Amino acid sequence: METSHTPVRDFYEAEPYPFGTDYGGYFERFIAPELRNREIKCVLDAGCGTGDLTRMIALELPNAQIDAIDFSQSSIEAAKAATPASVNINYYVGDLTSLADNPNAYDFIYCQGVLHHIRDPEPVIRNFRRSLVPQGLLIAWLYNPFGRRDIEDVIELNRRLGGANQSLDAQLSTINILIEALGSTAPGRLITGAQDEATLLPNRRKMVDRYFNPYYRHYTLKQAQSLFESNGFQVTEVLEFKNKELPDGIRQVAHERGLSLHGRELTWSLLELLKKPRGLAYALTSSGRAS
Ligand SMILES: C[S@@+](CC[C@H](N)C(=O)[O-])C[C@H]1O[C@@H](n2cnc3c(N)ncnc32)[C@H](O)[C@@H]1O
Repeated sequence: METSHTPVRDFYEAEPYPFGTDYGGYFERFIAPELRNREIKCVLDAGCGTGDLTRMIALELPNAQIDAIDFSQSSIEAAKAATPASVNINYYVGDLTSLADNPNAYDFIYCQGVLHHIRDPEPVIRNFRRSLVPQGLLIAWLYNPFGRRDIEDVIELNRRLGGANQSLDAQLSTINILIEALGSTAPGRLITGAQDEATLLPNRRKMVDRYFNPYYRHYTLKQAQSLFESNGFQVTEVLEFKNKELPDGIRQVAHERGLSLHGRELTWSLLELLKKPRGLAYALTSSGRAS
């Protein structure tokens, strides 16, 4: 059946992701601490790709039953191939937008870098809500526009230079030149000198995912919050901002203007502008409101 997701699925069918990266210790720094001191028996990794992070969940929660789903068959095959038989992960090919209801099945749902590729994520989020036990945890990471501005500039430069008529490999070489031209703040870089597959493949997949994805959208913190809140969740933490304080000068200005920094929302919105994240991980629990 043709659906609006087909281009995204075809894209990940051809370019399974992330293929051998731990995102520079991201999981260990931001996600693993949220899983400690919680009783987590059943996990869903929703949009697991090649399972690199799923396997980290399995290491962190060796006794949990872990389901991992993705609509890209080649990603699931790569995930299975990379998972030792001793690791207990059930991989499935399936589309999150048509998941059957599975009430109270999971204590933790992880959805890293997926919802922003789905045109209508609201039913998916409501399904997550129904699938979680009442005190369950959802962690979802979404693209943020503040830190992706230079990625968008590279994409636009490539477009204006007629990139669409070139092969993917030719465009990847052009991207290197564009990044160079934009200066050191532009993210990513195609490694051209390295020979070994272990370095080249994850690097290439990252570049392709970053610059050539057929569908995505960005969510400001406020937009993400409203998306989750209108679908039965509340944001309990923005993981990249956990324990982060505003610079003294800004705290002082807020104080002088009588603004309270006790609730986290103003602090989060200021940190978003100051830190310009490429994406943010939201820790969410049920708001108690029916969905
Ligand atoms: C950027 S990758 C993230 C993979 C993994 N979560 C990670 O962060 O390493 C996005 C993944 O979401 C999957 N995906 C996107 N839309 C989906 C949908 N509607 N149903 C199932 N999987 C989907 C893609 O196939 C792809 O593997």
